[in-house]
Amino acid sequence: MNTVEVSAPLIVVSNRLPFVLHRNEKGELSRKASAGGLVTAVAPVVIECKGLWIGWSGMYDLDPRTKIPEADPEDKAPTAGLKSEQVIAVHVEEKIFEAYYTGCCNGTLWPLFHSMPDRAVFKADKWKAYCIVNEEFAKCTVQALRKTLRELDARGETNVVPVIWIHDYQLMVAANTIRQVCEEENLRCKLAFFLHIPFPSWDIMRLFPWDDVILQGIMACDFVGFHIEDYCVNFLDCCSRRLGCRVDRNKMLVELAGRTIHVKALPIGIPFDRFVELAQSAPVYIKDTDAVRVILGVDRLDYTKGLIHRILTFERLLEKHPEHMEKIVFLQVSVPSRTNVKEYKQLKEEIDQLIGRVNGRFSRPNWSPIRYIYGCINQDQLAAIYRDSAIALVTPLRDGMNLVAKEYVACQIKDPGVLILSPFAGAGGMMHEALLVNPYEIDDAANVLHRALNMPQDERMVRMKQLRLREQVHNVTNWMKSFLASIGALATERDDPLVS
Ligand code: G6P
Repeated sequence: MNTVEVSAPLIVVSNRLPFVLHRNEKGELSRKASAGGLVTAVAPVVIECKGLWIGWSGMYDLDPRTKIPEADPEDKAPTAGLKSEQVIAVHVEEKIFEAYYTGCCNGTLWPLFHSMPDRAVFKADKWKAYCIVNEEFAKCTVQALRKTLRELDARGETNVVPVIWIHDYQLMVAANTIRQVCEEENLRCKLAFFLHIPFPSWDIMRLFPWDDVILQGIMACDFVGFHIEDYCVNFLDCCSRRLGCRVDRNKMLVELAGRTIHVKALPIGIPFDRFVELAQSAPVYIKDTDAVRVILGVDRLDYTKGLIHRILTFERLLEKHPEHMEKIVFLQVSVPSRTNVKEYKQLKEEIDQLIGRVNGRFSRPNWSPIRYIYGCINQDQLAAIYRDSAIALVTPLRDGMNLVAKEYVACQIKDPGVLILSPFAGAGGMMHEALLVNPYEIDDAANVLHRALNMPQDERMVRMKQLRLREQVHNVTNWMKSFLASIGALATERDDPLVS
């Protein structure tokens, strides 16, 4: 039921490979599985269609001729079936990669696309590095495409059109080069792009000095996917207002140099059943959940996630409602992320201090209000804390989709809890039975938290049932199917003029 059929080879291009390469003391390479939902959905399709995955090697000193290792025999990850010849590692010199990744991706594009332009740094040398690295990815992709086409042609499958699928904000201009070479060499392929973060409004986008290059880079694709319709509309707006392109907002089409680009909202889901199974078998991780009710936050440590606002909200709750003292704890799990970037280091310090202040202010001899984990926890532990938490506080200031909200509801297999969700996450527009809260309104957010703590069981059950049903249906496999269906439909729609 959950398998995805695919007829053409799929070439996936993403900044990171779907696993991490490791080298032991003897210098031998091995793979370490990545746990993300995207990998869970996409890797089986790449395996089935004998496709390819192109991504950064993660190592600066790796000889480009080095063979990517096969998976360990005990590896049960969805990527285990990816043969070494299906993985292409992109190698980039450290200085350039740093300027691209830390400088442009994390220092400029991440804050800008999350509508936080004050945090964005605009530097020509970082942008240049971004273009160089995108070019390198494009070159590897074209080589992979040539090889794929040779194999198809040798089998007489000359009608089969490979699909190149580029992911996320790190690679927004790679398609430019790929399209150019394909046109010069008459290579057949369909080019697709999916953005995993928000697409900002044209008024934010125009702050970026090279926004035209980004827009053209994305429009070099035949198909462009975003999580929600708002992001599609923002993108079409930019194409129209910044580049003067003709757009059809109803049909979600945009025209560039006589080509029509199809734009679509494809909200990503999670591997719902896998989370249910984990929640059914995971041992208890927080031992005292009978005595205290847990309010949970799980995030990468990132300023977009609203962690400071969330801690202040919890503090306000304790101020306004001291009756909750000793009956609740706020458990925040923060996964270290982009630790080389100044903004992230500063945020970590700010959070450490704030938690110290709140705990110092409210702790009693046998109780502290905030428990804080700064580190990674495994999938079993994660499922256990999702399952055993009474409330999930998912309150980003801005977020492309947010999968924590979805994973929490999947794991609610016992007495159901309450999801509190920010409308500024993509998920906020879809998970209607959550309690929506503006994370900037600390006082109101504290009221909503109080309401969640007092919500009667029957109301919690009704809400959670609906939330779970939706995520069960719109899971990540369905997302993958919708993407492939959209790509499949392109061939027939391709000749339609944009505006008749
Ligand atoms: C977000 C982005 C991903 C990125 C991830 C982790 O989810 O959409 O593309 O991989 O953050 O960030 P990192 O910089 O460690 O890859």
